[in-house]
Amino acid sequence: MSKPDAVDLIVRNGTVVTPEGRQEAAICIRKGRVSGICANSETPPARKVINARNLHVLPGLIDDHVHFRDPGMTYKEDFETGSRSAAAGGVTSIIDMPNGTDPPLLTPKHLRQKIANARGRSYVDFGFLAAVVPGNFDDIETLVAGGVLGLKVFMAETVGAIEVMDDGVMLEAFKHVAQTGRRLVVHAENDEIVQHLRKKLQSTRRQGIGAHLESRPVVSEVEAIYRAILYAETTGARLHVFHISSQEGAMLIGQGKARGLDVTGETCPHYVLLTSAHLRRMGNVTRMNPPVRGGDHPQGLWAALVEDTLDVIGTDHSPHVRQEKLQKSIWETMPGWTGVETTNALFLTEVNKGRMSLEQFVKLRSRNPARVFDLYPRKGCIQIGSDGDLTLVDMKKRGTVRGRKLHSRSTVTPFEGWKLQGIPVATIVRGNVVMRDGEVLGTPVGQFLKPVL
Ligand code: DOR
Ligand code: ZN
Repeated sequence: MSKPDAVDLIVRNGTVVTPEGRQEAAICIRKGRVSGICANSETPPARKVINARNLHVLPGLIDDHVHFRDPGMTYKEDFETGSRSAAAGGVTSIIDMPNGTDPPLLTPKHLRQKIANARGRSYVDFGFLAAVVPGNFDDIETLVAGGVLGLKVFMAETVGAIEVMDDGVMLEAFKHVAQTGRRLVVHAENDEIVQHLRKKLQSTRRQGIGAHLESRPVVSEVEAIYRAILYAETTGARLHVFHISSQEGAMLIGQGKARGLDVTGETCPHYVLLTSAHLRRMGNVTRMNPPVRGGDHPQGLWAALVEDTLDVIGTDHSPHVRQEKLQKSIWETMPGWTGVETTNALFLTEVNKGRMSLEQFVKLRSRNPARVFDLYPRKGCIQIGSDGDLTLVDMKKRGTVRGRKLHSRSTVTPFEGWKLQGIPVATIVRGNVVMRDGEVLGTPVGQFLKPVL
C-alpha cells in the first residue's frame, strides 16, 4: 500500500476489479497517472474526490476496433462524435481503423493528418492502425516510427475498398511487418470465395439477409484465418485476427496458441449476442462483414471468450447513417453499425446473468487489448505509474438501448430496445472525468497513443 502526499483525484469506496480479483481500495491519480492504491481509511488530501460506493472500478476499457470515418466520411461519424460516444459508453481509449475514411491511412503523411485532426477533438485517448497495400511496403518502417499500433491487411473486399493482395504479395507484406515487431492485424475472409458467391447471388432475385450470409460462408473465414496463421508462423509476424464470426475460426486461434505462436483473436458483441431469431426478425439491418451467423456460433464464440481462446472484445464500430442501413435490398444496405457506446453495457448485462465474471470482462476489454497492441502497462491495468484511466460501473443500474439517444452520428443498432443491467457511470481518462452518469463532460482531452515497447 503506497500513500502519496497530495493528489489530483481520488476514487474511493469502490470495488476495484482486475483480471486477478477484486478488492476494496482507493485509487489516487496525480499528474494523469496512478500514484497510489490505498485503503479507504488512508487516503491523502485530494483536489477532487469521487465516491464510488456501490460501484465497481475497472481499469480504463479499451476498444481496439472503431471506424471514426474521419477524414472524408464525416457525414457518418467524426472524431468528436465517435469519441463522445466512446466516453459515454465507458471507453477510455480507442484504436481507429485505416479504412472507411477518405483517404485511407496508408502513408506517414496520412498518419500526421489523422493525428492533427484528432488532437483537441477526441474525448478519449486514440491510436491508429495503418493499412498495408501492394504500393506502400516502403512506408511501413516510417509508419511504425510514427507510432502506429499495428498494420492491417485486408484479405477480402469490404467497406472502404482497400486493395486486396494476392498471396505472393501478402506473404511479402507479412515479412515486412514481422521485421518491425508490430502487430499484424487481418480482416480474414477469402476474397475469391466472397466475390464469386456475391456475384452469383446478386444475379438471383434474393434480397434478404440470408443471401448475404450465404455469400460469406464459414469456409471463407476459416480458410483465411488458417492462411494468415500459416503466413504468420512462416514469417514470425505477431498476428491478431479481427472480428471472428465463427466458432471454427476461434478454434484455429486456440490451435495457433497451442503451437506457441503469438496469435490473438477478437470477436464482437453481435457475433456472440445475436441469434438466428434476431437475424430473422431484424433482417437487412444486421448486414455486417463478416456476417452475423447465428446458429451455434454465438455459444461457441462465447465459450472461446470465457476460456481465453479469444483475447479481445472489440466493437467494430462501423457507423452509417439511417437511410444507408434501412434499404430493401441487402446489396444496397451498408454493412456495420454503431457499437462503441453500447458494448460495455451489453456485456455487463451478461456478467450480471452469470455468463462471464467481471474479472474476465476486464481482461477482454482492457488488459488483453492493451497487451495485443503494445500499450501495456501504460494502459490495461491499475498500477502505480500507469495512466489514470478508470471506468466506473454500476452493476445495479438498469437501462434500455435507444439508438437515437446515442452520442454517435449513427443511430441504427441491432440491439435497439435491449434491456440492460450494468452500466458505466463514469469514464476517467488520465485523471480527467470525461463522462459522469451518461453525460459527456469538459473539453476533449484525448492524446495520441504510441506503443510503449
Ligand atoms: O461490415 C463492416 N463494415 N465490416 C468491416 O470490416 C468494415 C465496416 C465498415 O467500415 O463499415
Ligand atoms: Zn472493422
